[in-house]
Amino acid sequence: MLLQASSLVEHVAPEPTCCTRCSARIIEAGDRERRRLERDLHDGAQQRLVSLQLSLQMLRRDLGPDADPAAVAELEAASAEAAAAIADIRELARGVHPAILTESGLGAALGSLADRAPLPVVVTDELDRRLPGSVEATAYFVAAEALTNAIKHSGASRIDLRTWLADDQLHLDVSDDGRGGADTMNGTGLTGIQDRVAALGGTVRLESRDGQGTRLEVALPCASP
Ligand SMILES: Nc1ncnc2c1ncn2[C@@H]1O[C@H](COP(=O)(O)OP(=O)(O)OP(=O)(O)O)[C@@H](O)[C@H]1O
Ligand SMILES: [Mg+2]
Repeated sequence: MLLQASSLVEHVAPEPTCCTRCSARIIEAGDRERRRLERDLHDGAQQRLVSLQLSLQMLRRDLGPDADPAAVAELEAASAEAAAAIADIRELARGVHPAILTESGLGAALGSLADRAPLPVVVTDELDRRLPGSVEATAYFVAAEALTNAIKHSGASRIDLRTWLADDQLHLDVSDDGRGGADTMNGTGLTGIQDRVAALGGTVRLESRDGQGTRLEVALPCASP
């Protein structure tokens, strides 16, 4: 059911049906594939570039102090290119599936999102245990999109990001003190959030009245396995 009243949107998930379970399986398969891609990028292309960069540095050392300045400049430029490519791959892998999410969990991954934001993001993480991978990944990508939106559209001076567990549900709130006016009809990010959350049988509530900031509340079922 999708309720829409001015800029208040509530998506309430129905009882799990065959379709909800199929969607959840598709989301889980997608998340597994993203984790595999992240590992492949890390262990494959990134490692090869790191080796290339080391070889270039050794070559530079072998040339010694009397080397042709033009050759040295070429080598240093190649080394800088390799470093930039490594940074690009690292960033790409983080977008595909952040390693910190798998290794250290949702709280740490949200903290790293906050650290990279260009405005103050206050994270209050009250989770005391790891959650199923699909729940952590969904919450992470929801938070990432909501943060991106707040940074891009809201003009906010502060964003608050809060997670906690209650009644076998993960709750995630992202709120900003910006201009409000978020509208699911104007892009793909907010509808993407609704789809991802619905696939896990969760609920989304978006409150974004003009001039009163934006608050996104997500609840995801996450009963212990
Ligand atoms: N936190 C926010 N504050 C103010 N306006 C917002 C906020 N979040 C979203 N909006 C508005 O709602 C619209 C829809 O957001 P949505 O995330 O769906 O699309 P988008 O960010 O424009 O593009 P994308 O498809 O890349 O996400 C935005 O274009 C923006 O006008
Ligand atoms: Mg968006």
